Amino acid sequence: MSHTLIDNIGLLVTNDSSIDGSSLGVVENAAIVIENSLIKWVGRTGEFSRGDVDDSVDALGRCIIPGFVDSHTHMIFAGDRGAEFRARMQGESYSAGGIKRTVELTRAASNDVLLTNARRLFSEAMSSGTTTMECKSGYGLTVEDEARSLSVARQLTEETTFLGAHVIPKEFADSQDDYVDLVCGPMLEAVLPHAKWIDVFCDRGAFNVDQARRILTSGIAKGLQARLHANQLEHGGGVQLGVELGVASVDHVSHLSDADIAALAKSTTVATLLPGAEFSTRSTYPDARRLFEAGVTVALASDCNPGSSYTSNMPFVMAVAVRDMYFSPEQALWSATKGGAQALRRTDVGHLALGAKADFSILKTDSYIHLTYRPGVQLIDEVWRHGSRIH
Ligand code: NIG
Ligand code: FE
Repeated sequence: MSHTLIDNIGLLVTNDSSIDGSSLGVVENAAIVIENSLIKWVGRTGEFSRGDVDDSVDALGRCIIPGFVDSHTHMIFAGDRGAEFRARMQGESYSAGGIKRTVELTRAASNDVLLTNARRLFSEAMSSGTTTMECKSGYGLTVEDEARSLSVARQLTEETTFLGAHVIPKEFADSQDDYVDLVCGPMLEAVLPHAKWIDVFCDRGAFNVDQARRILTSGIAKGLQARLHANQLEHGGGVQLGVELGVASVDHVSHLSDADIAALAKSTTVATLLPGAEFSTRSTYPDARRLFEAGVTVALASDCNPGSSYTSNMPFVMAVAVRDMYFSPEQALWSATKGGAQALRRTDVGHLALGAKADFSILKTDSYIHLTYRPGVQLIDEVWRHGSRIH
């Protein structure tokens, strides 16, 4: 068994509240020991006998945080929509319709092109501290293109999500129910070997609540776990549907009524906020303070996609949450790590308590506050995943 000691950690964030009663579970002058891919020991510098370690790393007083868990991305696509972004920044508004442009480009792309593009985005995300990533299909929208999108995603992550219900493709514009039948039947069958989750874009210009209920329950019946894009573009019944079906997470939730918040507070469903989308579509941010006050579990994710949020950078997302949504730096860090893990119903990542995966970043600084206080500056020095350095 190999033991790696990381000592002289100025500030260690574990997200283990049993350590100090705070949600970040912070230890000063800390050390950790990794056994194979897991956290084996957490304590103070100098406490662990050096005779028992094979390797040691001096963190030089820097801060270590858990790896980011990005629970919401759309990284399987071809091309980009830079022209749409330019027009939007000049005053055009965002609509679900732009997705169809990416669908055309994705259908025309080979598996190799899709994999190379997704690998580029994964590696970009990893170098900014992300160690667990969810990835959706949703730009294929045929049986074959959804299945190959998910088989590509599966080469990069186990957290794969079937989003055949992203929008109604143009060839089904006049027969929407037939498309829902296809998603619930042959398309679902074809993606099952590659998908862990099922998701629906339940919103204006996409799928209504009844369609979403049918699609999610079909997926659940086949053994997939459910999550939902809800209330991004307007207020609708998506959040209530998500709670009714016990989905792991409702995502975006930019338009929330008091009843939605009360329903979330009583549930085990996480509210995943995606500030990169409001930032890049110049839309109103969700009111995170109401969610926190009600005791709802809040995650932050990138929503990385070529339309509404073309960033894979979790420190940027956290900085926007702090600057524009009144998260504290501590809430932003927790939501981007343990919150994301809860949105994926994962207990082995998003924290650095004993037995967790040794997934973490060593910052260039001694304080996690700098991640949001110094926006746009690369403060991630080293990234470790499953006990090995990957960046
Ligand atoms: O999460 N909301 C739906 N889907 C994506 C946008 C996809 C696109 O514009 O290409 C989102 O924002
Ligand atoms: Fe999304």
